Amino acid sequence: MKAVVIRTFGHPDGLDVVDLPAPVPAPGQVRIATEAIGVGGVDAVIRRGTLAGHGFRAGHLLGSEVAGSVTAVGEGVDASWTGRRVWAFTGLSGGYAEQVVAAVEDIVPLPDGLTGVDAVTLGGSGVVAHFALDRARFAPGEAVLVRGAAGSIGITAVQLAARGGAGAVAVTTSSAERGARLRDLGATHVLDRSGAGGPDAPSGFDVVIDVVGGDQLPLFLDRLNPNGRFVAVGVVGGQPPADFGMRLMSAFRKSLSFATFSSDTVPGPERQAVRSAQFADAARGDLRTVVHEVLPLDQAALAHRRMDAGEVFGRVVLAP
Ligand SMILES: NC(=O)c1ccc[n+]([C@@H]2O[C@H](COP(=O)([O-])OP(=O)(O)OC[C@H]3O[C@@H](n4cnc5c(N)ncnc54)[C@H](OP(=O)(O)O)[C@@H]3O)[C@@H](O)[C@H]2O)c1
Repeated sequence: MKAVVIRTFGHPDGLDVVDLPAPVPAPGQVRIATEAIGVGGVDAVIRRGTLAGHGFRAGHLLGSEVAGSVTAVGEGVDASWTGRRVWAFTGLSGGYAEQVVAAVEDIVPLPDGLTGVDAVTLGGSGVVAHFALDRARFAPGEAVLVRGAAGSIGITAVQLAARGGAGAVAVTTSSAERGARLRDLGATHVLDRSGAGGPDAPSGFDVVIDVVGGDQLPLFLDRLNPNGRFVAVGVVGGQPPADFGMRLMSAFRKSLSFATFSSDTVPGPERQAVRSAQFADAARGDLRTVVHEVLPLDQAALAHRRMDAGEVFGRVVLAP
């Protein structure tokens, strides 16, 4: 089968299209013939080498989420899965391939009316957006800032905050055109990447959902209201400065909270319940997915070049 692996970390040209044997489902797994493969920010972060300390090695087969049809089941898995269309989480590897394996507890049936492309745009990111707001104890009427809103996590977070009755939903983004698109999805105030702009934006935020991290993260800690909660869900802008915690300590009297959030810490059944509900919402048109472009699997490097060039609004999807 065709698959895409990292030959060299760093530039997208370090991705190679290779032939690999199709994986055999182990006990508890299913094999899926992919119809759509999500290209996530996490794939870019791994390919760039930002997570070098986490043990990723040359030859790594990228990709975390796919949609397709179950073609085989491993020992102990109900055979009735065979032939069903599903979304699947493959972990931090294995997705950029014509055939993938996934644990049966990491697959969700696709409702009628939801395309594989939409499923991989929402499946991983929607859950992050949901639980990040949940961990932030977001309540109706509060002012929310989504930092790095133009990706699929941010796009869903904006919609969920708006639908949850936020008093304001501010976003950071890099262009007025993106700002307009985010307004269409529910944003009420558009800031630039440094947090400037939006003259009528709230001066402080009760909740910040941050996909970006990086050098400027402390500036956004300063924007928290008293009792404000900051939830870091991504590092697309790199790691924050090592001493960023001092910013919280120097604002001690504001009772601020900083949390990281990884969906790995949500019990599987809870994740799957939220994902199924979001898939149903998307199939009904109550939650929008934003697909930037669908490219053939063997153009994964182009997909990554687009991400590195900052061209992607929403999600790029690969189709085998
Ligand atoms: N917490 C979890 O459980 C979980 C799960 C999956 C993934 N992740 C993480 O989430 C991140 C990917 O999320 P995503 O796919 O939604 O993001 P994304 O599409 O890669 O990026 C989101 C937006 O951030 C802005 N951005 C990019 N680089 C920036 C920079 N240097 N400074 C400021 N803004 C920048 C860009 O928008 P503008 O150009 O409009 O500013 C971009 O569209 C990764 O870090 C990944 O590891 C977390």
